[in-house]
Amino acid sequence: MKKRVFSGIQPTGSIYIGNYLGAIRHWVATQAEFENIFCIVDLHAISIPQEPETLKAKTREIAALLLASGVDLKQSAVFVQSHISAHAELAWILSCFIPMGWMQRMTQFKEKSQKQKESVPVGLFIYPALMAADILLYQTDLVPVGEDQKQHLELTRDVARRFNSFYGQTFTLPEPSIPKLGARIMALNDPTKKMSKSEIRSAHAIHLLDSSDEIRWKIMSAVTDSRREIRFDASRPGIYNLLTIYQLFTGLSTSEIEARFEGKGYAEFKRELAEVIIESLQPLQSRYRALIAEANYVDSVLAEGASKVRSIAEKTLATVREKIELGTR
Ligand code: AMP
Ligand code: TRP
Repeated sequence: MKKRVFSGIQPTGSIYIGNYLGAIRHWVATQAEFENIFCIVDLHAISIPQEPETLKAKTREIAALLLASGVDLKQSAVFVQSHISAHAELAWILSCFIPMGWMQRMTQFKEKSQKQKESVPVGLFIYPALMAADILLYQTDLVPVGEDQKQHLELTRDVARRFNSFYGQTFTLPEPSIPKLGARIMALNDPTKKMSKSEIRSAHAIHLLDSSDEIRWKIMSAVTDSRREIRFDASRPGIYNLLTIYQLFTGLSTSEIEARFEGKGYAEFKRELAEVIIESLQPLQSRYRALIAEANYVDSVLAEGASKVRSIAEKTLATVREKIELGTR
């Protein structure tokens, strides 16, 4: 029996190389080994305000990008979270088993809510309960994510353990799968911060659909330092981040890369890095353009994905309801 993989991505903003190198690439690389379920988490997306038309377009865009990145429908299901109502129902139930203190420790909430204070939506606070529901509904073994999701995974395991200890074995305890390299790609305009979707400044991130000129411009203006040597030195976050991106796209070792740029300057390295990224993304971009031109096809993939996995989610939810003795059936 293959182990089951589950992961999710929000249909907000534009997918950038952080998402790709930290998550999507690994989903694709290991899909033959596992039974895979990839979820476009639109209910999570609405924890911050979304324009309805944009949300719909982004949902399709991400589905097409996943397929263009190599997600193979023979090995993986792709579906939209809101198509399966069990997610919202289990999220509510789990939220009744999560102490406030656990939620209050979530650093992502603290960061995202900083500017909003009292007006921050309750949904943003209980976001991790919905994420736990996503994962636990499918009796997931492995969750491939970037490093920023580690704390949410720990909370998922804690609530699964707690529910299991009250009601007997119900949920599989999921393991996080976080890549050794690329789990935290940093922002180009500020390498001390994580590359993220919420930042709209244009030199912050490279999006998977950026043009060659945009990629060149962003890499050339990436913040580095005033040193010269091109070395993998974590104490120089700008150049270290760019070298990591170079390594992930080329597959070369650190010593091969250092040797290649021995005696060369940052500008030369950046020029080559930009070309490497452009070349790596080109095939993906042309597959994407073909797919997105067929919105009906993308929609049918998502409908099929939901019908493939719905019974797994409903079975888990039925077990949960029975254990708690909800209703009188
Ligand atoms: P999100 O865009 O927040 O839905 O994230 C989708 C996936 O990309 C998650 O697995 C994240 O952990 C991962 N991810 C997001 N930003 C980065 C980053 N800067 N570096 C590595 N992985 C990331
Ligand atoms: N919270 C995740 C993120 O922002 C997305 C997500 C939602 C997810 N549900 C999930 C990831 C379940 C893995 C498993 O990146």
